Amino acid sequence: MPHAEPTEPAERTERTGPTEPTERPERLQRTERATRTARFTLDPDFTVGPVDPRLFGSFVEHLGRCVYTGIHEPGHPAADEDGLRTDVLELVRELGVTAVRYPGGNFVSGYRWEDGVGPVEQRPRRLDAAWRSTETNRFGLSEFMAFLRKIGPRAEPVMALNLGTRGIEEAMDLVEYANHPGGTELSDRRIAHGDANPFGIRLWCLGNEMDGTWQTGQKTAAEYGRLAAQAARALRQIDPGLELVVCGSSARDLPTFAAWEATVLEETYEVVDHVSLHAYYEEQDGDRDSFLASAVHMEAFIREVIATCDHVGARLKSPKRLTLSFDEWNVWYQRRPNPHPVEDWQEAPRLLEDVYTVTDAVVLGTLLITLLRHADRIAVACLAQLVNVIAPIMTEPGGPAWRQTVFHPFAQAARHGHGTVLDVRVDAPTYPTPKYGDVPLLHATAVRGEDGTVTVFAVNRDQRAELPLEVALRGLDVSRVVEHTALADADPEARNTLDAPDRVVPHAVEGAGVADGRLRAVLEPMSWNVIRLA
Ligand code: AHR
Repeated sequence: MPHAEPTEPAERTERTGPTEPTERPERLQRTERATRTARFTLDPDFTVGPVDPRLFGSFVEHLGRCVYTGIHEPGHPAADEDGLRTDVLELVRELGVTAVRYPGGNFVSGYRWEDGVGPVEQRPRRLDAAWRSTETNRFGLSEFMAFLRKIGPRAEPVMALNLGTRGIEEAMDLVEYANHPGGTELSDRRIAHGDANPFGIRLWCLGNEMDGTWQTGQKTAAEYGRLAAQAARALRQIDPGLELVVCGSSARDLPTFAAWEATVLEETYEVVDHVSLHAYYEEQDGDRDSFLASAVHMEAFIREVIATCDHVGARLKSPKRLTLSFDEWNVWYQRRPNPHPVEDWQEAPRLLEDVYTVTDAVVLGTLLITLLRHADRIAVACLAQLVNVIAPIMTEPGGPAWRQTVFHPFAQAARHGHGTVLDVRVDAPTYPTPKYGDVPLLHATAVRGEDGTVTVFAVNRDQRAELPLEVALRGLDVSRVVEHTALADADPEARNTLDAPDRVVPHAVEGAGVADGRLRAVLEPMSWNVIRLA
């Protein structure tokens, strides 16, 4: 497995005192540059594995303004005949999303899917207990599938089932309604509702965060394991080809983590395909160094879930290997108070509308790199969420849509991160962090496309100094740098807003080149980098 191999502690060139927003990146002297250089080797014979396209998934929950005034706003100047915002659709396509999880999240654990199908004017208004909002049900399964079709042929649904307040029968009913061609009460109901063709939804989540005390219908591991296994068997009786995701822990730091997975998998191992992981990161107490090292936590989480899956597989003497669905991940400032006034039971309130900085975008880049570095075991990953709610895309009701800082690393990875991940073993100087100890300044991966081109994704975690990078290119048919872009800013708090939507965008970096079989580049302080080789 890839691992970080820090070299001897390097000379640090940090300044003391706070970084001024206008400060220039620190330039390194020649000798300093030699000791501080980060290195790795790329060789097509040493790979992690192919990237499942669904690694670039996202998530639409009935939460706040993700659906209403996010993707769906009838009457908006850019709305189409289905009430979908075409300005948002364009940005979603640009983002490169390949899968979308729906309809929750916590919301799904109290959701009745029947409320969201059929004539809109007959749909009931309901209390959404998870987010203390009113759900109008103007948007449901059919509208979601129309949204997906408009994103493009590559976008796959990741449909979550309610195993909180509901059970096996309702799950079976939904699969029949969605996927059966016709000739039964539920499939004919879909046809009568205007969807003649079955939706063909392949990937289903067996509930959401069923271990969480906040989850409607929370269960113990034993209760959930049994229910999930029964639901999985029942769904497979309808269609053995479905792909099923069983709920892992809703966070690695919960006391039940790993024991939950072990118990649940003892029941479900043979009838599911993927185990879910959820992780959110935020800067706490001004400790930006640790925040920039969040991927250390994500990396450990992934390894531990793989180990737990394989332990259960070994115990059951099963040749089967489970894969992971990292179906909620992002930066989320959960500890910050909501700056927007919100009342209980409002429709589409402004909830979780985090405004991301360039620092958040760099951290998101490290998380993407980590997911790619585990492409051999991660089948699905969903950035939570897509629009307005902890999202790469923001909208104003009746107004424009724009890209948050975090949009850019995701879009670049989704564009250039398809192919085979090469095994990258980083040799880099380290820096001390309060939470994770010494952490390599470089976090990186590389993906080789089918056409032989190679894209290096690299983050320099050093907040103040550049990081020279040297990559030995062994057995690769690449000889030139097509493009080196970086996302970085002298102001670590720089963000994109309604008034300044393009304050932070990737910029071209000069100077990278290939000579003597080596790529040499310089990574700006605290930067996300994409270096494309052909
Ligand atoms: O993405 C926001 C919430 O985070 C989801 O509803 C829930 O699954 C998780 O706790």
